[in-house]
Amino acid sequence: MPLVTTTEMFKKVYGKCAVGAFNVNNMEIIQGIVDAAKEENAPLILQVSAGARKYARHIYLIKLVEAAVEDTGLPVALHLDHGEDFEICKACVDGGFTSVMIDGSKLPFAENIAVTKKVVEYAHAKGVVVEAELGRLAGVEDAINVSAEDSSYTDPEQAAEFVQKTGCDSLAVAIGTSHGAYKFKGEPKLDFARLQKITALLPGFPLVLHGASTVLPEFVAKCNQYGGELKGAQGVPEELLHKAGTMGVCKINIDTDLRLAMTASIREHFAVNPADFDPRQYLKPAREAIKNMVKHKIKDVLNCSNQL
Ligand code: G3H
Ligand code: 13P
Ligand code: ZN
Repeated sequence: MPLVTTTEMFKKVYGKCAVGAFNVNNMEIIQGIVDAAKEENAPLILQVSAGARKYARHIYLIKLVEAAVEDTGLPVALHLDHGEDFEICKACVDGGFTSVMIDGSKLPFAENIAVTKKVVEYAHAKGVVVEAELGRLAGVEDAINVSAEDSSYTDPEQAAEFVQKTGCDSLAVAIGTSHGAYKFKGEPKLDFARLQKITALLPGFPLVLHGASTVLPEFVAKCNQYGGELKGAQGVPEELLHKAGTMGVCKINIDTDLRLAMTASIREHFAVNPADFDPRQYLKPAREAIKNMVKHKIKDVLNCSNQL
């Protein structure tokens, strides 16, 4: 089974549920995720950020993901997360990815359209699909740090015009989620009225939710119990993600929850086994923690088990 694009996955799940898109940085993370998806018989997107490419190197990530596909027989899409310009998108299209994101969300509308269109033309000629973004999420990633004041929600009319003018295959929208472990100060809420307007203007068109980790309290508590300092961490409640999956959101991005699961497990391991120093001793349970968390996501949050 070769790597697949997201086209068929999105068609299959549209209006019912969303496919999980998980960020990968190394072998243990990839194995934990694909083992969970295999057991749940679920469609899967593995995504690689610019920071991940820098950390693990393109060739290693490609080969690891290819190995995962060969090992499990799962149809997996390999996606570039937050490509910031044409060059990185081109490198990933040429380098074996089946999906790329051009994130022109920080650009003026016309410039975002121009760069997205350029990526779409290049990628489509090679059978690769393109995710774009309109509206700005708050939060922190390696390459991006957007304050709450600089964030802005997606305008539904602009979204329809953007999709029509660029020919992109999916669109990331800003409706109140944000990247990282500190998403809400008060009560968590998403702008579902806005999402509904976008969906009404773009019927059947796949939307994407970034910054969609739930920041599971059990991992935050475990990190803090074993020496961590994660104060006030809060994610998107599970039921809001579930609802978004029935409203045209076909792809839900998860990275922070993987980081927390892995870190909580490793912190606990060293606290309980201070004499250990073989990396396999702490990476094996960390991989298992990722697998269990991803199974829970697929089954209970995304509701996309058995959607192959
Ligand atoms: O949205 C971004 C992802 O969480 C990737 O984060 O740029 O630190 O790899 P990163
Ligand atoms: P989280 O920080 O909520 O996991 O979001 C990840 C993301 O959007 C990757 O693009
Ligand atoms: Zn993101």
